[in-house]
Amino acid sequence: MAEPSGDTPEQYRKDRVLLDSYLDWAAGEGVPVIEDFGVDLLAAETAPWDRFGVDGAIINLKGRGNYSSTFLLEIPPGASSAPMRHLFEAVYYVLKGHGSTRVEAHNGASHSFEWGPKALFALPLNAPYQMFNGSGAEPVRMAATTNAPMVMNLYHSESFVFGNDHWFAGREGEEGRFAGDGEMTPIRPGRVLWDTNFVPDAGAFELKPWEARGVGSGNMQFILADGIMGAHASEMPVGTYKKGHRHGPGLHVFTVHGSGYTLLWYQGDEDFQRVEWRHGMVFAPPNKMFHQHFGTSNNHARYLAIGLGSKRYPVVQLRRAGSENNRSDVSIKKGGRQIEYEDQDPRIHPLWLRELAVTGVPSRMGKFFDEEAMLRELKTSAAE
Ligand SMILES: [Fe+2]
Repeated sequence: MAEPSGDTPEQYRKDRVLLDSYLDWAAGEGVPVIEDFGVDLLAAETAPWDRFGVDGAIINLKGRGNYSSTFLLEIPPGASSAPMRHLFEAVYYVLKGHGSTRVEAHNGASHSFEWGPKALFALPLNAPYQMFNGSGAEPVRMAATTNAPMVMNLYHSESFVFGNDHWFAGREGEEGRFAGDGEMTPIRPGRVLWDTNFVPDAGAFELKPWEARGVGSGNMQFILADGIMGAHASEMPVGTYKKGHRHGPGLHVFTVHGSGYTLLWYQGDEDFQRVEWRHGMVFAPPNKMFHQHFGTSNNHARYLAIGLGSKRYPVVQLRRAGSENNRSDVSIKKGGRQIEYEDQDPRIHPLWLRELAVTGVPSRMGKFFDEEAMLRELKTSAAE
């Protein structure tokens, strides 16, 4: 028997043990592989990505879990991406620029649709598509949140994932889905579904009330191209914030408009981690890490969350369980995963009041907290 060979990722590859087929594939793509807690996608470095025919980078967030990750694409002015089909799903969110996507259907038809900043869309699984920058002057930046990690690890065959000619005709949806048509299904607050392939402006799409997640909170769940990748938009009115909660990993949060911040912490942590909100940021709350979103600007603060498990196809037990019991909008004191305002860490509200003092936005949370006492306290400690 040979001597033990050692315990490093390089040696695992040589010994053919503990492999991650997605990470190995990503390392061979020739583009930056960025691993971080949160990433500013508008500032992230890209390099030519032969597979897509444009520049790009692979974003592996710390909280992405096992199944999903984000690809960043930059299409130069007047250029187009390489024609492409793949067996993983991709939910595209446009960060900047204007362009169009042409997607082929099983019956030989093709659909083209135009998009601009904050458009959200998905192509039917494995449908051939190509993207065009419609501007001669401005580059396009877009993020594709995918389940490539799941699919590459499932098959560990690049040629199968990128070279399969099967048509998933049922995913194309009815005529008009690429033009932004859709179907609304209200189930309960926080579970209102908009079923489409294309949302022209995720920043303007009308949300529905979900008061249980925070005062004035709004939400919409998107089913895109009948996919297993889920997306939802969520918003808090001016002068408010969401309640803290926690759930499984892999939800990629994109800040859409408004400014503010997110605090994240594990139960028992002394301090919070903090992510600043600005257009172009993405982060993913890690597994079971509490997180709470705060608006501080004088317009609504909205974000998009994209990850594996749609409301139609939760795929994993964690996502299904979150819909049935152990809900993310029910207090942890009642077996759920949310921290009600009255139970939150006493540092949280004064910290937010201090932020509001900077932006000059009035709080609309006075009925939940003794804000006068908190402001007196802040003044006293500032004077000391
Ligand atoms: Fe969350």
